[in-house]
Amino acid sequence: MSETQTALVTGAGRGLGAHLAATLAREGWHTVICGRSREALEARVAAAARDGLKLHAIVVDVTDEDTVDALVRDIEASAPPIGLCVNNAGGNYSHKLVGTRTDADGELSLRPHPTADWDRTLQVCLTGTFLVGRRVAQSMLEHRTEGVIVNISSAVSRGAYAQSAYSAAKAAVESLTRTWAIELGEFGIRVVAVSPGVIDGDALRRRMAANPRHAAYMSSLKAQMPLQRWCTEADVAAAVMCAVQNRAMTGTIVEVDGGGFPSRVFTH
Ligand SMILES: NC(=O)c1ccc[n+]([C@@H]2O[C@H](COP(=O)([O-])OP(=O)(O)OC[C@H]3O[C@@H](n4cnc5c(N)ncnc54)[C@H](OP(=O)(O)O)[C@@H]3O)[C@@H](O)[C@H]2O)c1
Repeated sequence: MSETQTALVTGAGRGLGAHLAATLAREGWHTVICGRSREALEARVAAAARDGLKLHAIVVDVTDEDTVDALVRDIEASAPPIGLCVNNAGGNYSHKLVGTRTDADGELSLRPHPTADWDRTLQVCLTGTFLVGRRVAQSMLEHRTEGVIVNISSAVSRGAYAQSAYSAAKAAVESLTRTWAIELGEFGIRVVAVSPGVIDGDALRRRMAANPRHAAYMSSLKAQMPLQRWCTEADVAAAVMCAVQNRAMTGTIVEVDGGGFPSRVFTH
């Protein structure tokens, strides 16, 4: 790929998105990264430049229809047509449906899943994917580009302990993937979901450093995995590149999860 097409990666100021963006720039894509924090994006552009890679940053909130529209207009005005969009931006604010705690006197206290946390998880993971995917598909159709949309899902889409909002959002992202593949296939546009298990990356390291009990619990979970390892950002990037390169692949959910995800995962 020479810089004849643009790859857009959402949520690329850190974590998996940053790794994917660097991979795509290295593969020769004109790579646009977006997210809400200008500071994080600029740091990422500078880090890439030190590695001899060029990234282009645009500040966007994927949950805001107007800024998503402005993002695509900006790319259309200043960059090659969008050939690849990776819907990577995400956030997980899930809890148990009803949290329970028994105090020393045997009294049971209940904490229902806050509606606000349900809403913000669905907003970023699901509505954000819908808004960006819809606007990018429109651009690909207008420019007659036979592009690829890759939606980043999660192995948690099957359902997992204390993951109501996130599981539901990611299951819906996989459903969108199949639906868009059916609708856009006749125009040569392919849509694939990549569904990682726990990623051995920045987010996991932050959570484990903040909570030693969580760190110990995650280590015990890892031992139950068939491969006894988490996936890495590089593993996920390899799956994204496979989706980009395999011209017969669409409507597919590519699982990158070490062979199976334990169902009881605590996040708090
Ligand atoms: N880490 C894992 O173990 C794991 C496992 C399976 C799937 N995934 C999925 O992989 C993707 C990346 O995860 P990660 O671990 O790299 O997460 P992360 O480190 O928390 O990064 C999330 C990125 O999304 C951006 N973002 C959040 N809300 C946004 C919004 N409204 N508009 C634009 N950008 C937004 C954040 O930047 P700003 O805050 O600056 O906007 C950040 O760059 C997510 O879709 C996640 O669900 C992760």
